[in-house]
Amino acid sequence: MKGVDMDIRTGILCDTVEPLVISSLDELQRYNVRDLRPKVRTRPPFISMCTPEGFQVKEVHNRFMEGNVEKVDTEKAFREWSALYRLASRYGRVVMMQGDSTCPDMVFKANAGYVDPYSDLAIMSNMVHESRRKETPLFKKWLEERYRVEYLPDTVRWEGGGDTIEDTNRPITWCGYGQRSEWAALPHVSRLLRQPVIALKLVSKLYHLDTCFIVLPGGFVLYCPAAFDAEGQAMIEWMFDSDHRIAVTLEEALTFVCNALAFGRYILFPAGAEFIASRVERCGFVPRFTPMKEMYKSGGSNACCGLKH
Ligand code: ARG
Repeated sequence: MKGVDMDIRTGILCDTVEPLVISSLDELQRYNVRDLRPKVRTRPPFISMCTPEGFQVKEVHNRFMEGNVEKVDTEKAFREWSALYRLASRYGRVVMMQGDSTCPDMVFKANAGYVDPYSDLAIMSNMVHESRRKETPLFKKWLEERYRVEYLPDTVRWEGGGDTIEDTNRPITWCGYGQRSEWAALPHVSRLLRQPVIALKLVSKLYHLDTCFIVLPGGFVLYCPAAFDAEGQAMIEWMFDSDHRIAVTLEEALTFVCNALAFGRYILFPAGAEFIASRVERCGFVPRFTPMKEMYKSGGSNACCGLKH
């Protein structure tokens, strides 16, 4: 392990060493990342959501938003969002944050930042779009009231939980880059979380990692291979055995099927993704579906609305 000191039992990188960003199958195998033991959580998981006060498509930030400017039916969106909230509250704990009528994308709270499941650390996002950067002071205040908040250099773009997903089985973090978040952010994420990150380049219309990849409890992954380059696909295949991989086509992924919220064995999918039911049931999960048509217009769905804690 040249240059890196890692306790193989806990996977915790020692304070004194450089961060570790893994971007090839070769490195994954060299560091033996698959065999890291899981870390233990010290607090129960929950999600936080943000009320959809000003939700609308005002300008195009991703390809799903094209043709949808001012097309959101805000009352219908509120009903959909409320149904998601009620369903999520049935299976897990949901903490609410007040949205802001001048921030049309604030309902996508996953982009506020990233909360370390193993400590009191939260890392603030550096959003790409100027209009979304208006959300920053509001999210900053909310996170600072609850966590020890760390920041990335101002020049480095990184969109928090949208591009950052914990591997529930091993002390590593999967990070998407190449569309919203920059590769340059990933060493900072690894340094702050004190564990390796695996860098996945996003190459399709699916612009955030949480639109094409979700690690499910029990070491399963639901993902869209076509959203990643060959190296990314190879890394995912090496980390999850074939009977723990649920792959969907690009066409299927465009229903936002990977943008789900998992609460133990219950997985909340957007309606329209019912085709996934038998595939996840086979792995022991219980799927639930809830309509998210208005959120789609903005390129978001279930997971985008919930920041994981
Ligand atoms: N319209 C929002 C944007 O483009 C959607 C964000 C979706 N969030 C997510 N975590 N995928 O920024």
